[in-house]
Amino acid sequence: MSAADIRLQFPLLSTQMNGKPLIFLDTAASSQKPKIVIDAISNYYETTHANVHRGVYKLSQQATDAFERSRHIVKHFINAPSEEEIIFTKGATEGINLVASCFGRKCLNEGDEVLISAMEHHANIVPWQLICEEKKAILKVVPITDSGEVMMEEYKQMLNAKTKIVAITHVSNTLGTINPIKEIIEIAHTHHIPVLVDGCQAAPNIAVDVQDLDADFYVFSAHKVYGPTGMGVLFGKKEWLNAMPPYHGGGDMIETVTFEKTTFNKLPHKYEAGTPHIAGAVGLGVALEFMQEIGLDVITEHKQYLLDIATTQLKQIDGLRIIGEASNKVGVISFIVDGTHPYDIGALLDKQGIAVRTGHHCTQPLMQRFEVPGTVRASFGIYTLESDIDALIKGVKKSISMLL
Ligand code: ALA
Repeated sequence: MSAADIRLQFPLLSTQMNGKPLIFLDTAASSQKPKIVIDAISNYYETTHANVHRGVYKLSQQATDAFERSRHIVKHFINAPSEEEIIFTKGATEGINLVASCFGRKCLNEGDEVLISAMEHHANIVPWQLICEEKKAILKVVPITDSGEVMMEEYKQMLNAKTKIVAITHVSNTLGTINPIKEIIEIAHTHHIPVLVDGCQAAPNIAVDVQDLDADFYVFSAHKVYGPTGMGVLFGKKEWLNAMPPYHGGGDMIETVTFEKTTFNKLPHKYEAGTPHIAGAVGLGVALEFMQEIGLDVITEHKQYLLDIATTQLKQIDGLRIIGEASNKVGVISFIVDGTHPYDIGALLDKQGIAVRTGHHCTQPLMQRFEVPGTVRASFGIYTLESDIDALIKGVKKSISMLL
């Protein structure tokens, strides 16, 4: 199936913005949804909805089956060893907060260290700051190079007996850098340090195999993989999920409750308190099947092609500087233009029907590292066409001519 055929399956991409055909280049913030996902969600509500894990009646069983079927799809999508290790969350942010809180309560003590990198999204910084403050632990930051790559020698040197966990992104949402995550995990494991991987920008772009990576925790969000918002996945190795205390208390996560004591449900339910986002799980499952049908290798290759042509053409624009020039990247390009503010370029592109993200991209420390107020970021999806790149290049040139 060509990218043009794929694009036809996304209703919103046939609409207009500001009187112009919509050119959507903000997929890293949130992807658009194919009709098959939209239909699966409304079909679930029209034909199958009831609460899960609670009813003996047929409809509840059907809803439970639909919910658990998605867990099965997720397990295969990331090649997890078991469904018990797939926790449904509200999104990657909740997954990281869960691990920071539960792992932190169990394993962090005064003077311990948590290691992150300088390219982390706020979602992989702030939860660790909160737990470090509570536990009097120390947050350490591995520096990155000017091209936007983790400094591996510094990383190795920063691991020590006090390091209790490494939390790092697989792919940078701002720079597009694909980190050598397998190597990063391998090095941490030689010190018996577990690793949490923020896979938000990896899952939409490259095949993820948590067993091959040997990740201890891996999180991603449904809305970035063509699924619904408010839904996400936390993979955790069984030994960690069993050892950590629960996150939220409530229904479904318990085995028995008395006023004196509660015992907890088995995995994965121990970490899924309350009625879950059943329709969200159903939509996620269909979205992942949709991606698998296209093929992760096809998706990666398509984005690489778009990245290459966009990078080459953007670089030819006078005064334009790409922020993040790692040798291994996904289809995410951040740039600034001398004498202009990213917001102004973004606003002028919007008038031309082109949607890009501008600002700090929830990575303020990274902006400080590159000494820029923000960037313009274009990011590609499976529906992005070469003609979208042409429109971006034309649009950027036109915006610059209006500003300078
Ligand atoms: N994390 C999302 C982004 O990078 C919102 O834009």
